[in-house]
Formats: sequence, structure tokens, C-alpha cells
Amino acid sequence: MRTSAAEIRDHAAATLSPETQQRLEQFLTPAPVADQAASLFTPTRKPVRILDLGSGTGILAAAVAERSADGSSVVAVEQDANLAADSERTLSQVCHNTKVINASVFETLLDPVFDRVILNPPYKKISPIRIPTSAGDVKVTNQYTAFMVYAIQAMADGGECVAIIPRSWMNGEYFKDFRKWLLDECSIDAIAVYGSRQDHFKDMDILQEIMLLKLTKQAQRPDVLVYASASPSLPLDRQQAERVPFNQLILGHDRIIRVQRQNPRLAGFDTLSEQGLWVSTGKLVWFRNRDILSTQDTPGSHPLYWSDNQAGLLTPHPVECKREQWVTAQADARNVLLPTGSYCLVNRFSSKEQARRIHASYLQSNTGFVADNKLNYIHQGTSRRTIPLPDDIARGLTLWLSTSIVDEWYRQISGSTQVNATDLRQLPCPSRSQLAQLAGKLPIEDDLDQERIDHAAEGLFSWTTAS
Ligand SMILES: C[S@@+](CC[C@H](N)C(=O)[O-])C[C@H]1O[C@@H](n2cnc3c(N)ncnc32)[C@H](O)[C@@H]1O
Repeated sequence: MRTSAAEIRDHAAATLSPETQQRLEQFLTPAPVADQAASLFTPTRKPVRILDLGSGTGILAAAVAERSADGSSVVAVEQDANLAADSERTLSQVCHNTKVINASVFETLLDPVFDRVILNPPYKKISPIRIPTSAGDVKVTNQYTAFMVYAIQAMADGGECVAIIPRSWMNGEYFKDFRKWLLDECSIDAIAVYGSRQDHFKDMDILQEIMLLKLTKQAQRPDVLVYASASPSLPLDRQQAERVPFNQLILGHDRIIRVQRQNPRLAGFDTLSEQGLWVSTGKLVWFRNRDILSTQDTPGSHPLYWSDNQAGLLTPHPVECKREQWVTAQADARNVLLPTGSYCLVNRFSSKEQARRIHASYLQSNTGFVADNKLNYIHQGTSRRTIPLPDDIARGLTLWLSTSIVDEWYRQISGSTQVNATDLRQLPCPSRSQLAQLAGKLPIEDDLDQERIDHAAEGLFSWTTAS
């Protein structure tokens, strides 16, 4: 009796050895998601050469082969012997010309001949490695981007690739090199971001925000088809999508990619860095400086700020918490001290439960101080030199970063709970005189109501339109 690709997958998912599953990250794609991924390829009557990297039970390649013309062929690479055998079984039912290679993708030499490359790779972080390509080395920091570099190199000119991957490569410093390389090699044709994290891999316990990415090996097309909030349970062609000009999705020198057209109300603003503002990360790594942390204010000591000190829009000091609130005078020799003055502090990590990603707070310090490295601080210097902000700008900026429109902007840029300095530098920001006027509208308090902040910022948009 014929066992379907979905049945082979479900049986494998239920019987995977927990140890191997963890080690090789065997999170198997459910049949409806495999179908959605395969549906993104351009239909053609010509036979195609299909490649599946880290094929698991072969469900992805099978979904592509089922939609392809007679005479098509499949190559699947899978490191786990049991799953490689499952791939053989799955694929032999849908294609006459299949080859399953039971080896690591990183040890398999593939010619750039494939018309359809599909993959749902492992996602784990790795220590940074450089993968050689014809366009130079590409630095990657996790498994999925490493797989993507191999996948893209195996594509024929005009070939297409569909990947099920996390959203994290689209922003942040870590993925900069990979992003630039990918954008030079391929056209991004479609992006589908799943609205909810777990829906689509219900039996697999996946927590990251996941997307489908469709690429073609050719110069970038003018538009990208974007499903900003895709659902795994309906075919994609029955879901809401928008064609967005590519250049509206790309931000700045670091080529950050957003998933939605920018809110037009932000269009008149320059970025934070264009306003001469700079985002730096707090300089104190506590576990390397345990010897200077202090619970008491002693002669020569300096205040130490953690995200625990952020209270609403203010940054009180000292506060009751588990963290030491001072560093001793020895800090002076460690290059961690920031100069007296006004700043806007921003958390670097948020939790899923928090209503906002960005938590900004105003700090006016009348003495040199230290910020923990889980905080970013905004100033008007450079990466090498910290220069505090004029006080009204620090207050106006804190209010601006606390608006709903800024939080929404950040969510479009990043699918994770981290708040990166690199991304914040691209944040649309009112001019300095507008920030000063905003500061004049509302006092900074610990429990300012969101509506009042948003209402005060409303005026900024009319100033933009008027100017
Ligand atoms: C996230 S699972 C996805 C499996 C399958 N593509 C699917 O979508 O159901 C990743 C697969 O890659 C395999 N894998 C992990 N590291 C690998 C490597 N270096 N080379 C080849 N396969 C690998 C795992 O065994 C696993 O089957």
C-alpha cells in the first residue's frame, strides 16, 4: 500500500530519537506548510532539477516534485541515515529520477545546476565561520544562513529557491554580511511571515518567528510579494498579500529588510543617525567586572544603571533590586565610564509578555556613570566618543521612542524580542527642534499613559506635512 509523504513525515515525527532530534534539529515540516512553500515556485511545463538540503523525510522535495513536469529530477541531502531512508521512500513515489545523499550538506559538492531549491534547515547558532563563494567569503553565525549560502550557490541562473527560515537574518549586525551577499546574488521575490509562532509547527515546539522566503538567481525585481501575516492553514493564493516596491523594504547601509511598507506618516523624517544621534551599547559586562560592583555608595564610586533602573520614562537611582547599584573608583581605569549629562536609555532585551518592544527612559546624571551592556544609550557623539544630549532632546527622544508608531516600526523590522543598536540607528526621527517641542508638551513621568504620549506626538506628523 502507498504511504503518503504526510504519513511518512508524521510517523517519523512521532518516533524521532530525542537526542538526535535536538542535535540535528529535526523539526519536520507539516504537509500544509510544505504545500505552501512549494506553491511559491513559478509553475513551468518544463522538467526541473530539484534540490532539497537537509531533506528530513523528503516532504518538501516531494511537494515540489508533485507540482513539476514529467522528466523532473530530485537530489536530496540528509545527514541522518534513518531520515535519508525515509526521503528515499517518499521521493520514489512522486519522481522516477531521485538521488538521496546521506551526508552533511557541508561535505557535499553540488554543481550550480538546480532550477528549484527548497529547504527547511536547522536553525542553531554556531561560532562564526567564513564560507568561500565566487563573490568572496561570507561570514555566517548560524546553521540556517550557512545552509542558505550552500543553497544559493547550487542554484542555476534563473533558478528559484524557497526556504523556511527564521526572520532574524533580516535585521541586526550579526547577519549584515550574509544579507549583503544574498541581496547581491538573488532577487527577493516573495516573503511570507507567519503571524503566530507556533501554529505551523504545532507538534514540533518551535518558538522562533518563521517565514517563507522565495528567491530567484537574477538581478532584483522591482516588487516583492509580501504576506505580512500569513496563516499556515490556508493556501497562500487565498491569503492577503501586497506587492511592495523593493526599495521601500530596504533600509540604510546595513540593508535591513522590513516586512511592510513604512507607515507613510514616518516618511518625512530623517533617521536617528542622520539627525546626528548615535546609539551605543552600555560598556559594562558585569561578569567580567564582578570585582568593582558595589552595593554601597563609597568615596569615588559611580552610579551603575541596569534595565532594572528603568521605571516608566524615568531612570531612578538607586533602586531596590538584586543588582549592585554602584561601581567602585577602580572603574575609572576600565573604560566603562560615561560623561555627566542627559541621555535616552533603551533596553536591549524585552520579553514576549511585555506590551512594548522598546522601553526608553530619560536619564539626567550630574556625575559620571556606568551603564550595563544590556542597555543601549543614545547620545550625540560617535561609536568612539560619547557626547551627552541637550536635556530637552533627551526628553523629547524618550517620548518619541515611547510612541506606539515607533513600537510598530520596530516590530516590522524585527521578529525577535531583542532591540539592536544597528536597527535603532535607522529609526525615523523628528528633527531636533521638533524633539525639543515634544519635550515641552509633556513632562517625563514614571507612569505616563500611552494615549497621552501618542497624542502629544500627533503634532509632529502635521508639522511634517506642513513643511
Ligand atoms: C529542520 S529539519 C527539516 C527537515 C525537512 N527538510 C522538513 O522540512 O521536514 C532539518 C533537517 O536537516 C538535517 N540536518 C541537520 N544538519 C545537517 C547537515 N549538516 N547536513 C545535512 N542534513 C542535516 C536534520 O537531520 C533534519 O532532518
